[in-house]
Amino acid sequence: MSFGLSRGRTLDTSAAGLRAEDLPPLPDGLAANPDAARLDPRAWFEHPERPFEIEIGSGKGAFLVQQGELEPGTNFLGIEWAKEFWAYIADRLRRRGLRNVRALHADATQFLRWRVPASCARVVHLYFSDPWPKSRHHKRRVVQDAFLADAWRVLTDEGELRIVTDHDDYWAWMEDHFARWAPPTGDGPFTRHNFAPPPSAGEGEVVGTNFERKYRREGRPFHAATLRKNPIHPPPPN
Ligand SMILES: C[S@@+](CC[C@H](N)C(=O)[O-])C[C@H]1O[C@@H](n2cnc3c(N)ncnc32)[C@H](O)[C@@H]1O
Repeated sequence: MSFGLSRGRTLDTSAAGLRAEDLPPLPDGLAANPDAARLDPRAWFEHPERPFEIEIGSGKGAFLVQQGELEPGTNFLGIEWAKEFWAYIADRLRRRGLRNVRALHADATQFLRWRVPASCARVVHLYFSDPWPKSRHHKRRVVQDAFLADAWRVLTDEGELRIVTDHDDYWAWMEDHFARWAPPTGDGPFTRHNFAPPPSAGEGEVVGTNFERKYRREGRPFHAATLRKNPIHPPPPN
């Protein structure tokens, strides 16, 4: 495949790329039987028994490449719905010879909801998620009550949802959700903690993705939080 990002090179997605469109179709009546289409994405890795982490909206894949190289004993699945970016990441992973990182072309919110089994991911990473600033588009934001319920379900006990954004209005929206999902009383589905930069972040960086580096040059401030799954307090049913 050849895309704009490839600067004329043919991108080879065969070693590290997966596509939701190649999975068996979602059956009818999923709402009544939400487990009907589950699969185990850990089986896509050479060592499925290793800890598993998911990144939502990987962009050009900086986090996946940096953290995947530093942590070869962890399996990382990056989910990206823009085909050009997905192909770019998959080719980049192949060129780097990274066997513990895979890129999936999919809508991550749908993939989490219908495909990912419970209690399988140690971390869900969400960095510089699209803010969808217009009110009529807020429903497209990744952070929603339904997403937080899905994240809670797929995380292992004490597993973490790690979030960074530059966008003040989206952050206020997230804070509103966090107040209900991770109340300071500690008796919510999550407990809230400071965000700890991953080992791959550079000096002075929060997480070290492409968007952080771009926005840092523009002098924008960042917001970050870690929500840790509280296994004894499930979310209310949808
Ligand atoms: C603003 S970019 C940030 C990219 C990267 N995380 C970074 O910090 O450099 C957001 C990315 O998330 C992707 N994205 C947004 N919603 C998504 C979804 N529901 N599923 C998968 N990818 C999504 C977009 O295509 C885009 O590449």
